[in-house]
Amino acid sequence: MSEIRVLSPATVANVVCGFDCLGFALSAPCDEMIVRIIERKIVRIVNRDDFNLPTKPEKNVAGAALLSMLRAIDADFGFEVEITKHIKPGSGIGSSSASAAGAVVAANKLLNERFSRLELVEFAMDGEKVASGDRHADNVAPCIFGGFTLVRSLNPLDVVTLDFPPLFVTIIHPQIEIKTSEARKMLPAQVSLKDAIRQWSNVGALVSGLQKGDYELISRALEDFIVEPVRKILIPKFDEIKNESLKGGALGGGISGSGPSIFMLSETLETAQKIEKVMREIYEQTTIDFNIYVSEINSEGVKFVN
Ligand code: HSE
Repeated sequence: MSEIRVLSPATVANVVCGFDCLGFALSAPCDEMIVRIIERKIVRIVNRDDFNLPTKPEKNVAGAALLSMLRAIDADFGFEVEITKHIKPGSGIGSSSASAAGAVVAANKLLNERFSRLELVEFAMDGEKVASGDRHADNVAPCIFGGFTLVRSLNPLDVVTLDFPPLFVTIIHPQIEIKTSEARKMLPAQVSLKDAIRQWSNVGALVSGLQKGDYELISRALEDFIVEPVRKILIPKFDEIKNESLKGGALGGGISGSGPSIFMLSETLETAQKIEKVMREIYEQTTIDFNIYVSEINSEGVKFVN
């Protein structure tokens, strides 16, 4: 095996009430990546898109993740990674995580699956830190494990994979950039006990609703009293998108990761497509370009392709 090609999916982190712990993977969009072993003990980044991302490995999320992996095995070789990004950086749908996770999953295949998925999440978090300034796993975990995940603890790392019923996701990506590192600086350093109680009750209810396939409970649990009120002001038409989507039959939703993307969950594909129309009509009244994706939840995560 001289090279491995993967499709690394976009992800939605936080899932409204689960800041920094809940996330799920999408079927589309995906980044395309090819990883090769090279003789020199370096990581070489080859960007095949127009995003002008850093090529110094320690400043590139895929590069930093691969360096972390090479250090763990004291390798006498290196990796080259070719990246074609389709997930725009700063979109809030896990662009940096897709690069970091795709790189380590592909590299691990070249190393005959030497590392577990949990270990790969650790390496990918070292990449994620380059983009967001923090090691958080709520995007890289679903990208690597697929489906819905809950990061119970970072130290020691504990990732719980969750069962979930059929769910369809509509995501609007307004073409404005919000840097995760900036969006994290806006967050309150402290929260009241009252808000904390409401928040963790909703996380428990959401996990239970997902496991039982109880759509009404899922819908009731999609509330966020801590992060959404602070961050939504950065996203034009946020409240209108949310209110109209709920009227249109969506179960609920909110800011995807640190924004600006907004996601809504629906029980059926028909409703998800109806929500796409609702979102389109609202954003067509603005001068902001946007993309809308309708996707299933991707149970596989990073996928090997020929
Ligand atoms: N949980 C992170 C945040 C996700 O909201 O800052 C960033 O994609």
